Amino acid sequence: MDRCRSFVSAADHCTSLGTSSCAAPGEVTEAVKVAIDVGYRHFDCAYFYHNESEVGTGIQCKIREGAVRREDLFIVSKAGEKDLPLDHSGLAIPSDTDFLDTWEAMEDLVIAGLVKAIGVSNFNHEQLERLLNKPNLRFKPVTNQIECHPYLTQEKLISFCQSRDVSVTAYRPLGGSSQGVHLMDDPMIQTIAQKYGKSAAQILIRFQIQRNVIVIPKSITPARILENIQVFDFELSEQDVEDILSLDRNLRLATFPIAVNHKDYPFSIEY
Ligand SMILES: NC(=O)c1ccc[n+]([C@@H]2O[C@H](COP(=O)([O-])OP(=O)(O)OC[C@H]3O[C@@H](n4cnc5c(N)ncnc54)[C@H](OP(=O)(O)O)[C@@H]3O)[C@@H](O)[C@H]2O)c1
Repeated sequence: MDRCRSFVSAADHCTSLGTSSCAAPGEVTEAVKVAIDVGYRHFDCAYFYHNESEVGTGIQCKIREGAVRREDLFIVSKAGEKDLPLDHSGLAIPSDTDFLDTWEAMEDLVIAGLVKAIGVSNFNHEQLERLLNKPNLRFKPVTNQIECHPYLTQEKLISFCQSRDVSVTAYRPLGGSSQGVHLMDDPMIQTIAQKYGKSAAQILIRFQIQRNVIVIPKSITPARILENIQVFDFELSEQDVEDILSLDRNLRLATFPIAVNHKDYPFSIEY
């Protein structure tokens, strides 16, 4: 997997699987194999999910079988604690090093041919603007991966990113599995799901696709992996998209408490 590291995304590649998971050994490998078989081509990984070798095993197996070619896959990883020095809080980007310096190190990876493209995650619009305005910028970020779902619709940040030609990738699109938030049970989502004869998860995924946002639902359950890609045979009406947007309550589920005091903590401003 190390040589497959890349922050690659494209707006038309919505067949994407998130892979963070506390799965049993082998489960992630099986999930990746099922996902490739049913058509997923974008895998969202990270060193700190501690399952890159499982993801890699699944991918290699499918390449050997001839089910897919490496060049057809978008494999995303994230710089983690093994890749960057730690600060006293254990954060990957040290407080005496600006994220712009870090960006230069990632640009070097592109020049070296180790990755095809680079992007950012959890950047607010000011951070993204700083990066885009960096003197001698060699490569623009191709995507900003951010938490996004109907309770955190991110309209301003998405609009900002798209206006700068930076794609947006929505993580935690189903509301995740913990923290007592049951987005899929929301009455409005349920009503819309019934109207289209689709599941709540499919409505949440389709909602992002229609906003031209890349979406990376995570599942290790084969039936759900299939369900989550069966979202290209229907279209939400404009009114339904508006109704889903009205559910916004600025509810951030991934707040990264360990980083709250970091100078680059991104969630202290509106967007
Ligand atoms: N950049 C970042 O800071 C960051 C932060 C968080 C996440 N991410 C990325 O985003 C991905 C997705 O986010 P997430 O895992 O936090 O949350 P999520 O995708 O919103 O939700 C995953 C949960 O939903 C369940 N699920 C999946 N499909 C379902 C369906 N059709 N019906 C019912 N339940 C379903 C999964 O269960 P099963 O697996 O048991 O099926 C799992 O418990 C992650 O895997 C990771 O790649 C990035």
